Amino acid sequence: MKTIFSGIQPSGILTLGNYLGAMKHFVPLQDEFNCYYCIVNQHAITVPQDPAVLRENIRRLAALYLAVGLDPNKVTLFIQSEVPAHAKLAWIMICISYLGELERMTQFKDKSDGRGESIPSGLLAYPPLMAADILLYSTDYVPVGEDQKQHLELTRDLATRFNNRYGEVFTIPEIRVPELGARIMSLAEGTKKMSKSDPNQGAFISMLDDADTITKKIKRAQTDSDSSVRFDKEAKPAVSNLMTIYSLCSGKTLDEIEAMYEGKGYGAFKTDLAEVVIETLRPIQERYNKLFHSTELDDILSAGAKKANEVANQMLYRAEKVMGMARMQ
Ligand code: AQP
Repeated sequence: MKTIFSGIQPSGILTLGNYLGAMKHFVPLQDEFNCYYCIVNQHAITVPQDPAVLRENIRRLAALYLAVGLDPNKVTLFIQSEVPAHAKLAWIMICISYLGELERMTQFKDKSDGRGESIPSGLLAYPPLMAADILLYSTDYVPVGEDQKQHLELTRDLATRFNNRYGEVFTIPEIRVPELGARIMSLAEGTKKMSKSDPNQGAFISMLDDADTITKKIKRAQTDSDSSVRFDKEAKPAVSNLMTIYSLCSGKTLDEIEAMYEGKGYGAFKTDLAEVVIETLRPIQERYNKLFHSTELDDILSAGAKKANEVANQMLYRAEKVMGMARMQ
């Protein structure tokens, strides 16, 4: 069985972008692959986090992973910091990466923009930590949104560099990006991706937003100058983004949606879109509410950490051994 690894940061409440670009695709994969899904809290602290909020977001994320339909009997769900091998292999990955390649990462440039002298060095070390996450589990495929493509390419480079220098230890992972929905854009700015840490609450739909909030956010969402519901990413990025969301939530094709709203303008389209999004999130929110306070959730995370530690420690040992770091026996 091939192996899948993917992580999500508890850096806020998950958005519809995180769901449509990543989490939704995790569910069918659990029947075909050996899946590791991780709450990457060490990635989240690359920018400052309020401890109480972070604690809550970790639990929220764990409950959401299960609420979307992941079965703990099929997948390994765990918290990154409960598996120390991640930080240990990350250090090795930092040591084999070059400053220039880390500084070239778009996410580093975006997140460090305007911080002057106070750019957290964790932002620079984010991709080597991500490489460690993936490589520890001999991962074959990494299902992620498009924004993580560059980090995945770096992971492949670091794994290849390590293998060439020390011998074949790591599997070179492949990226899996969905055809539609790999980059859901902000509701406020069609050129910016939807992000859970966006300070503008109106820019994203959170997976836990109630029906009224979703309706209001969609009503206020940016549209394009003419009033036709037509898919054209270049000329009509905002409406094309809303149509992508509609399509992924309803199962209707973009052509079907265009035909449904021909000559009707944005009003009717947005009212129906809000309904489609609310109905997509409703069953997830119901399951989430039951899971959030359950002790079952803690049991699942403890079992996940145990299994992940067993696998990750073996890989870490192999890497340290070929590097000459492990004691001779
Ligand atoms: N807008 C998006 N469209 C499609 N996929 C997306 N992903 C993120 N944003 C979109 C995918 O969601 C998974 C989890 O992302 P992450 O939490 O690890 O980090 P991120 O990519 O930096 O996501 P955010 O929401 O933008 O977080 P913050 O605001 O903290 O930086 C990944 O597979 C990602 O590709």
